[in-house]
Amino acid sequence: MRRDEGRECMSSECCSTNDAGDGTMDLLFRPRGVAVIGASSNPGKIGYRIVANMVASGYDGRIVPINPKGGEVDGIPVLKSLADAEGPIDVAVISIPAPLVADTVRSCGEAGVRHLVIVTSGFSEVGNTEDERDIVRVAREYGMRVLGPNIFGVYSAKSAMDATFGPGGIEPGHVAIVTQSGALGIAMIGKTAGESLGLSALVSVGNKSDIDEADLLGYLADDEATRVILLYIEGVKAGDRLVRALRETTRRKHVVVIKSGRSQRGAMAAASHTGSLAGADDVFDDVMRQCGVLRAESVQEAFNWVRFLSSAPLPSGRDAVIITNGGGIGVLATDACEKHDVALFDDQLLLKETFSGVMPDFGSSKNPVDLTGQASADDYRKALDAARVTEGMDATIALYCETGLFNTAGFSALLRETYAQYETEKPIVFSLFGGERVERLIRDVRRDGIPVFGDVYEAVSALGALYSSWNHRRQPADEGARGGEAALDLASVRDVLQKAGATGRGFLLPQEAAVVADVLGLSLPTSRIARTLDDAVRLANEIGYPVVMKIVSKDIIHKSDAGGVAVDLENDNEVVDAYQAILQSCRAAVPDAVIDGVEIVEMVSAGVETIVGARQDGSFGPVVMFGLGGIYVEVMKDVAFRAAPIDEKTANRMIGDIRAYPLLLGVRGESRKDIDSIAAVLVRLSQLIAQCPEITDIEINPLVVYDRGQGVKAVDVRILFSVPKGVK
Ligand code: ACO
Repeated sequence: MRRDEGRECMSSECCSTNDAGDGTMDLLFRPRGVAVIGASSNPGKIGYRIVANMVASGYDGRIVPINPKGGEVDGIPVLKSLADAEGPIDVAVISIPAPLVADTVRSCGEAGVRHLVIVTSGFSEVGNTEDERDIVRVAREYGMRVLGPNIFGVYSAKSAMDATFGPGGIEPGHVAIVTQSGALGIAMIGKTAGESLGLSALVSVGNKSDIDEADLLGYLADDEATRVILLYIEGVKAGDRLVRALRETTRRKHVVVIKSGRSQRGAMAAASHTGSLAGADDVFDDVMRQCGVLRAESVQEAFNWVRFLSSAPLPSGRDAVIITNGGGIGVLATDACEKHDVALFDDQLLLKETFSGVMPDFGSSKNPVDLTGQASADDYRKALDAARVTEGMDATIALYCETGLFNTAGFSALLRETYAQYETEKPIVFSLFGGERVERLIRDVRRDGIPVFGDVYEAVSALGALYSSWNHRRQPADEGARGGEAALDLASVRDVLQKAGATGRGFLLPQEAAVVADVLGLSLPTSRIARTLDDAVRLANEIGYPVVMKIVSKDIIHKSDAGGVAVDLENDNEVVDAYQAILQSCRAAVPDAVIDGVEIVEMVSAGVETIVGARQDGSFGPVVMFGLGGIYVEVMKDVAFRAAPIDEKTANRMIGDIRAYPLLLGVRGESRKDIDSIAAVLVRLSQLIAQCPEITDIEINPLVVYDRGQGVKAVDVRILFSVPKGVK
């Protein structure tokens, strides 16, 4: 039963997320029948546990255990061969040793299976990529999709199917977890069950030989039961697909990510600043923010967020009100709000009007609203209710410090009643701080899904996550991917690359880079190459003083480091001295360098020096970079990244992300710089890097920015590329 037709491609490298939305993914989560290949009656084996979990979870389709020995597993008769199965089998969970998997995949294809869930380890994770590729190839022949290999399985609330070898006990709910880590994923099953956090789906992606996060996002974004998606990612393959899927998904669902590997070790050694500044984790961080994904620092933080996000309504405005019985904890909450970008309601008159009747005279109706240490449950009830019904108070942060006066016994009812009123109307978080009685209370009410935290920072961070996701949804979608296709003269760029590639070079000379700069709408300073001292003086006079001089050699990439640059030369004598000094320093620094001459360049007038770059990132494909430029760029690392292409709005947000942004806004009486011109360069550069994959790195450093309306000037453009195929 081959099904080549109807599916163009199965590979994660080229499938679009739409493939996941064509209904085939639905069968992975709502299969009519599931075969467990390698089902065993031995309770110590994975093949037993999967069948037992499916039975225990109450899977609503047919379970078909397969084992050549026959017999029965957990009361279900075992078939000796898949060919004996009656009725549709949409999913086959494979738990037999690696060398046996390939044959089984073929028999699954013959039996009309649609999805393979391959638990078995021993493939690409241990270097056995060949067998893994073969499996995907055979699966593709039959129109099957592959989850795994090297996974713990899949859970779907939609069909009550726990096809994992986890500890069981998963409760249905609104959080979908997609995890690359098997062990952590299994542990999450126990954790979610312990915390009564309900799941809509749990998917282990393992080696991602075919189905990956992008496919699953395509499905989960449309899944009604799923309100929040939690991704645990170790490494990103085909990141441009992931970016597209995330951009679409976060418009409808909250997405939280935990990513391991924050260290700089993954940073690529590259010949450009853009490369060396692109610590893999920095790019990941910025691209996730661009996509509206919430990145959690720890598993616990991620759990706090998803629990809250899965039940909280979206706010209707940005201002929160803090209600407390203690000044100290109120101040802590205020600090936390600043840290997590939660705005505080600030209409003092309305605050007074709303709360003065529900507190003693010595309380404070300012925000934080301090009900004082003698506040009773009834005072809280009134204050929380007043905040709920008052327009403009968009979210509530309710804080309680244990006091001797307060009857904690009644507090549980207060929390439940208040939460029931807020639940669909306004977001509310609670933070309770105290001894054993308070801890018990927290555990008790959390079980019912009420967002109660022990630590005030945790409570505010969860609310901050909601605001961050809400803010992203309110921003218009980035039109970058759609705009400007025809705007760039790519033919000129390709022509230059081809000609340069024919000489065997992987970088462009200044005159060639000038053509690309022109396509980007940038003019470079006038420049000529001098091959003799007399030439240098003549050309400097032609260009006009002051001038800059730079070494020209393909063997010297970091020119300043080799003493190959001299600036602000104002007359013939200075040019003569600089010419000799440059040659001497460069010969000493790189003795074997072939020196083609010295470039004499028009001196660009001073402004704010920035750096603009773009590259093909190993994980995310085309990315653009913007930062503070000049010689301190690598020390300050004040840069921001975005997946390309981007539109002007995104470019402006990116510019605003750097710490030095106030310099561009104008400090100490200086006027605002031409931010719009930087944004325009970034947009064009993002289109170029996205449409021209031959270019591996572009760096414009510095890009000098002048006052608003005066534009920008590129001082130096460096371009690396891979030689187009077929060009000798
Ligand atoms: N069709 C059906 N059943 C078969 C076939 C076949 N073609 N061939 C063998 N079987 C049966 C076996 O007879 C056996 O049944 P039995 O217990 O009745 O004898 C059963 O399938 C399993 O085969 P075994 O050879 O006993 O293999 P075992 O169960 O020990 O291991 C497994 C198989 C679990 C797939 C193993 O090879 C493996 O890959 N383990 C790692 C799994 C893993 O950790 N995955 C990642 C999870 S994520 C994480 O990191 C936690």
